Amino acid sequence: MSRFAYVNGRFVRHGQAAVHIEDRGYQLADGVYEVWAVFDGKLADAEGHFARLWRSLDELRIDHPMSEAALTIVLREAIRRNHVREGLVYLQVTRGVARRDHAFPNPAVPPAVVITARSVDRVAIEAKAAKGAAVITVPENRWGRCDIKTIGLLPNALAKQAARERGAIEAWFVDDLGLVTEGASSNAWIVDADGRLRTRDTQANILRGVTRLTLLDVIAQAGLPVAEQPFTVEEARNAREAFITGAGSLVTPITSVDGVKIGDGTVGPVASRLRALYIERARAGAI
Ligand code: PDD
Repeated sequence: MSRFAYVNGRFVRHGQAAVHIEDRGYQLADGVYEVWAVFDGKLADAEGHFARLWRSLDELRIDHPMSEAALTIVLREAIRRNHVREGLVYLQVTRGVARRDHAFPNPAVPPAVVITARSVDRVAIEAKAAKGAAVITVPENRWGRCDIKTIGLLPNALAKQAARERGAIEAWFVDDLGLVTEGASSNAWIVDADGRLRTRDTQANILRGVTRLTLLDVIAQAGLPVAEQPFTVEEARNAREAFITGAGSLVTPITSVDGVKIGDGTVGPVASRLRALYIERARAGAI
């Protein structure tokens, strides 16, 4: 089936889609991105992702390329043209195209926008999630503004590759105090030895995960004990359960850390229940 990408104002064939060699995203990673899960052809957690997008752009002083209403139309069109019912939409906004110079272009140039959409096989993913997955840990080596969702993802890419080479789906960054910050492309959670859900607070240098935020609400509604409090690798090893959250992973149960089994090494009841509850909520709230 033909795929289409949106590039700076128009839809083009995916295979022919291209950006300028002096796009500042390409040369300087001077841009931001967002990823929405798509359920039933609709955008999940739409508001949260829009809010974070505008914040990321504002923090970097990149102009908003269009209004939220206009962007919603374009994202939906990307979903429609690519016949996505279940999948992901990717949006990238860079500061634009200009002769290479580290400082911002003066006068400013229009931001450059790329959108792609693709389908995922939720049945296959569900079967995988039911089995659980492994994570490894790596030293935290990212910059101090991980709250901004920038396309500068080299540490994340290297961490993810290390995970893949060790048969794991995710790498958890660990700071100098031995505390887990977050995953290369997800937030990290445990059900601690006392049965309390734990995930790192967003005062720390982490991305404010939209899935994380929705799940906190789901957890509150379910009346489960939770604390936005960091945990050590040791606590993760001794936890009852662990899982990760993100627009790609949704809620994915984790059954080992650095090869050490968590609990009895099988998917725990809390993680699998939260996965089901999150998907139900995201599907119902998709627009
Ligand atoms: N990643 N932390 C990091 C470093 C991430 O890159 C992501 C998302 C998350 C989870 O955020 P959210 O729940 O809003 O998706 C946490 C996306 C999915 C990606 O890079 O593909």
